[in-house]
Amino acid sequence: MNICIIGSTGAIGNAFLEYYSADNEVTNIYSFSRSKLKIDKNASIKNFQIDVENENSIKKASEEVRGVAFDLVIVATGILHTDEFGPEKSIRDLSFDKFEKIFKANTAGPAIIGKYFLPLLNKNSTSKMCFLSAKVGSISDNRLGGWYSYRASKTALNQIIKNFSIEISRSNKKAIIVGLQPGTVISKLSKPFTRQGQSNLFTPQESVGHLASVIDKLEADNNGSMLSWDGNIIQP
Ligand SMILES: NC(=O)c1ccc[n+]([C@@H]2O[C@H](COP(=O)([O-])OP(=O)(O)OC[C@H]3O[C@@H](n4cnc5c(N)ncnc54)[C@H](OP(=O)(O)O)[C@@H]3O)[C@@H](O)[C@H]2O)c1
Repeated sequence: MNICIIGSTGAIGNAFLEYYSADNEVTNIYSFSRSKLKIDKNASIKNFQIDVENENSIKKASEEVRGVAFDLVIVATGILHTDEFGPEKSIRDLSFDKFEKIFKANTAGPAIIGKYFLPLLNKNSTSKMCFLSAKVGSISDNRLGGWYSYRASKTALNQIIKNFSIEISRSNKKAIIVGLQPGTVISKLSKPFTRQGQSNLFTPQESVGHLASVIDKLEADNNGSMLSWDGNIIQP
């Protein structure tokens, strides 16, 4: 099995890397990260550079693995806050700069990854492409408000995933494209918004254990949908 993990320096991406490195059915792992990945001497992992906010970088990354037929591609990149700003609590906090940055990383970036990596999915047997999204992107589930750009970037990502699922079915009937909600996971992204001892907090390894089981059970019917770590469908 050939696996591609984009965002392998992140808490969740790295836990996926660990998880699949220990899987005997996995022959090759192609790992992509913006910052340098610290890896043990594991011959099955090949690491490449990628900046998901730059089309040339994504194109170049896809060219590095030309000819590989991926059975599974996981896109685990994303941002919620930067050194300059956090998620918007109120209408007063909205700005073009925040929308541009968050949408570029969370929506346009994964969309352009799809442009270059969807054609690399295996066409001879079931292949899967999974984008880490977020439950807060669900409009029907929005009860608290706030986090305008992050929420909207994930809502838009879910729409892109749905589009991918429709278009890919014409050229690769065995491909399944989904969004995944990992739960609340200890990471750099979640750190400012979680507290130690919080009851619903997963370690990255716990979350990935659940997500890997969801990925394993994906069926054609799931194409285009957004699934939670417990296997439940998250409504748009
Ligand atoms: N943690 C949670 O509770 C939670 C909940 C719901 C959804 N999610 C989603 O899960 C995904 C992973 O989050 P995480 O918790 O693992 O966060 P994380 O530890 O902060 O990891 C984020 C990853 O995204 C990468 N990244 C950001 N911008 C990039 C760019 N321009 N080019 C390449 N890589 C870039 C980071 O690379 P660097 O190492 O180079 O910065 C890092 O590898 C995100 O999509 C997030 O929205 C997380």
